[in-house]
Amino acid sequence: MGTFLITGATSGIGRAVALRLTEHGHPVIGIGRDETRGASLESDSNGLATFIRCDLHSNEDIDHLFVHLKEQGVTLHGLFNNAATFGRPGTPERLTHDAYTEVFDVNLYALNTVTQRAIPLFDQGASVVNNAAIVGHVKFPPMLAHYAASKAAVVALTKTFAHRMKGKVRFNAVCFGPVDTPLSHKLYGGEAKFKEAMSHHFRGHAASPEEIAPVVEFLLTDASSYINGQAITVDGGYTLS
Ligand SMILES: NC(=O)c1ccc[n+]([C@@H]2O[C@H](COP(=O)([O-])OP(=O)(O)OC[C@H]3O[C@@H](n4cnc5c(N)ncnc54)[C@H](OP(=O)(O)O)[C@@H]3O)[C@@H](O)[C@H]2O)c1
Repeated sequence: MGTFLITGATSGIGRAVALRLTEHGHPVIGIGRDETRGASLESDSNGLATFIRCDLHSNEDIDHLFVHLKEQGVTLHGLFNNAATFGRPGTPERLTHDAYTEVFDVNLYALNTVTQRAIPLFDQGASVVNNAAIVGHVKFPPMLAHYAASKAAVVALTKTFAHRMKGKVRFNAVCFGPVDTPLSHKLYGGEAKFKEAMSHHFRGHAASPEEIAPVVEFLLTDASSYINGQAITVDGGYTLS
């Protein structure tokens, strides 16, 4: 069974994908900063997930991660570039260069560096899934210009890598609508406000991380071998309304 590397595996969508892959027997290396939640991922995964602390704001941390993986002789069958931040929301007229840097550091530059460093570790038929969002793809919330721009850039980077690698490694992006996670609770000012906002969703509620994890598993594994260079919207119909 191939090993999968997942960034942002300590919470929300990344954790759900990590646990789904381990349930199906795949070893997972999960990246994040929170060691307590990293330990919880390991203990919930029947010993198949290994947590490695790595702050994606730090090139040094990313370097240490890949030196370690190389020393351990790790071969990867897939990479889920999932970690992201929306930084400090603000109107597009006022967002500062620093606010953009904070978001782009993790959402785009680290995603690119992790991808470049992972490529030499890939086995035949490996797959990369990049977590974009409908934001920056089909919806553009006015207070999140930096986040939206970073996610649009993730879609462009995904397609460029897919073209360059000519199918030796597949690259696809997933563009989720609202998902019930700590990230979206924070964006809406708390879980209660998020749930209230989601009652106006096309189907009355957001997705759970477990509901959408199978889509990522499908794209990461050989079952999706003929899907390459796509940005796939998974939003329960949200963008219809
Ligand atoms: N929730 C939604 O509605 C939604 C919709 C569309 C797309 N997405 C995308 O889905 C992805 C996951 O979001 P989520 O909703 O699952 O959020 P979440 O529950 O807050 O999880 C975010 C994960 O990213 C990690 N992370 C953040 N900054 C990091 C850094 N500097 N270094 C290392 N790890 C870092 C966090 O780990 P630590 O806390 O351990 O550092 C955590 O594991 C993001 O790319 C987001 O843009 C979310």
